[in-house]
Amino acid sequence: MLTIKIKHRKIKVFNLLLILVIFILFIYILISLILLLPFLNKKYDYTINGKNYKINSKVVYKKRLLKCIVKESISINSNDKGLYDFIKKDYLKDGYIYKNNNLILKYNVKKKCGSVLDDYKKIFEKTNFKLLGNEEENVNWKGEYEDKYVSLIINNKKSKNININSNLNLKKTGKYYKTYYIENNNIKNKLFRIINVIDNEKPLIELKGDKEIELNYSDNYKEEGYVATDNYDGNITKNVKIKNNVDTKKAGIYYITYTVKDSSSNSFSIKRKVIVNENKEKTDGKIEVKKQEHVVEEKDGITYVDGVLIVNKKYSVPKNYNPGVNKEAELALKSMQNDAKKLGYDLSLLSGFRSYERQNELYSNYVKKHGEEKASTFSAKPGHSEHQTGLAFDVGKLDYSFGNTPSGKWLEENCHKYGFILRYLKGKEDITGYVYEPWHVRYLETDIATKVKESGLSLEEYLGVN
Ligand code: DAL
Ligand code: ZN
Repeated sequence: MLTIKIKHRKIKVFNLLLILVIFILFIYILISLILLLPFLNKKYDYTINGKNYKINSKVVYKKRLLKCIVKESISINSNDKGLYDFIKKDYLKDGYIYKNNNLILKYNVKKKCGSVLDDYKKIFEKTNFKLLGNEEENVNWKGEYEDKYVSLIINNKKSKNININSNLNLKKTGKYYKTYYIENNNIKNKLFRIINVIDNEKPLIELKGDKEIELNYSDNYKEEGYVATDNYDGNITKNVKIKNNVDTKKAGIYYITYTVKDSSSNSFSIKRKVIVNENKEKTDGKIEVKKQEHVVEEKDGITYVDGVLIVNKKYSVPKNYNPGVNKEAELALKSMQNDAKKLGYDLSLLSGFRSYERQNELYSNYVKKHGEEKASTFSAKPGHSEHQTGLAFDVGKLDYSFGNTPSGKWLEENCHKYGFILRYLKGKEDITGYVYEPWHVRYLETDIATKVKESGLSLEEYLGVN
């Protein structure tokens, strides 16, 4: 009997224990369920490469026995693999899946889920990350990069807990990432900046032999050669492309164009002039070679003399000719302005490209104020202004005394090195049709500009259209 009783008690104790275990398990599951934390959505906005990326991040926390599982999925409205690789590299801890523009990161945090969530909430609610400067910056190679870093503002105070990591190499062109790691309340976050190390200096081509060659009818043209060099790529002679349409069976003036591009797509071109003279003629037993006149061509209502666009009181451009500023001329202008600035001169831009309509407005106002005769001595009629070609700029000061200032003198002495000429010279008013303008420069390319300057002639005289 006793044994049975004991057995009975044993069974009871066992049952009790079982019920207790089930109860504890139930309570644990209940607590786990209660602690199954909600999603946390984060949204980032980044402008990279001029494109706006919306980065959505969804964080799910799950409590497991002793740790918290965090699953964060990041989706970006981009198919820029590089951007993904970048984010992946930085965030990746335990694993990731990259699928159709969707990056899923999974990592474990050895913390209580609640505290992780609290930390995230704290940092997103109370802090404000701001990247000073541009999110993408261009820096010239060999140049200096001045960092404007990120500021982390916590409760209106700046924090200094920033670590910066970057593989920036200013000696090599390319795209670099600079990452700013920010820490607050043991929560880490990061921002990044893209730095494009670029080379914006043009390559150069030097022509061997004469830049101007004279051939007689039926002679053979012999290429004398050239050398192309670039500040970044070194010798790039093999990349030179040549356009040569010299026909020695046809008298005329030809231009052979040599163009080269460096690895950063900066381009440079130079021309060689080839004059093919007419048939040799016999006169009184002597051989006389007739030289060609300048070649005047008209294309789409625009006149070119020996390949140079000409606009003046005689030659106009069409009303609808609206090319905007010429990019090559603009680059040359910037380079000249920069060099001048370094030397303490001021060649600020006062006027560049002007449309037909804008010129009409200006000219009409001058006529109203000064009468037509006077206005025409300093302002071009619409369709007759060089400013409509995008190749002319007014710089420095619109004042006749500008020519006597250090800046004006430097401009006169040096502008040809950048491809410009002073277009309206003192003493040439009757030929150019306008009064002296020490501020007005016209882009021609360096070799022609240098020749025009050295000739001391006005452009009209140089091209033989005066
Ligand atoms: N001042 C120059 C001549 C122009 O109006 O284009
Ligand atoms: Zn002007």
